Amino acid sequence: MNDRDVVAWARFSPEHMTSLAALERAYEKELHDEETERTTYMIDDKPSGRPIGWCVVRTWDRKHVSANVGISLGEKDLWGKGYGTEAMRLLLEIVFDHQGWHHAELWTLAENERAIKSFEKVGFRRVGIEREVAYYEGKYHDVVLMEQLKPEWDSRKGN
Ligand SMILES: CC(C)(COP(=O)(O)OP(=O)(O)OC[C@H]1O[C@@H](n2cnc3c(N)ncnc32)[C@H](O)[C@@H]1OP(=O)(O)O)[C@@H](O)C(=O)NCCC(=O)NCCS
Repeated sequence: MNDRDVVAWARFSPEHMTSLAALERAYEKELHDEETERTTYMIDDKPSGRPIGWCVVRTWDRKHVSANVGISLGEKDLWGKGYGTEAMRLLLEIVFDHQGWHHAELWTLAENERAIKSFEKVGFRRVGIEREVAYYEGKYHDVVLMEQLKPEWDSRKGN
């Protein structure tokens, strides 16, 4: 959570830092149902049981139509090996198949080609670009909004 490279991609802010205590407090809130708009999941490497990242569903849409999702592998040596795509597919099973959301969306930095490719592999499509809405390391960065509808998810599964 405090690795510059990870949080630059994940939070569009390499300076973002959090303490272990703050993290535990946030997770405790979720575990005690005091956090109603966010559920975070740990991503484990199954054979070793090693925690390698996290993914999240944010259900802040008051119309109960759209879920916002996010994902990050904190172990950089595991980037590009298929873990993220598999984890996002499992997260979308929760979002669409178990919870029945109609629409899923996410934001990612436009320069995050690995993430965009991974998200496209599980059915997300680019909606558009928000220009220069992130700022770090002395310059502005564009952000891509991506989305997917449940019928599209369903028909991909059927193929
Ligand atoms: C984004 C993230 C979750 C993707 O998970 P991952 O396990 O690394 O991705 P995958 O290996 O499943 O898929 C990546 C795809 O992009 C390709 N890829 C890898 N590096 C790439 C690069 N630099 N440029 C373009 N494509 C790249 C891979 O080849 C793969 O496609 P393929 O399976 O067709 O070969 C992970 O990289 C990560 O946590 N990154 C840091 C944090 C982050 O960016 N979070 C997302 C914020 S929205």
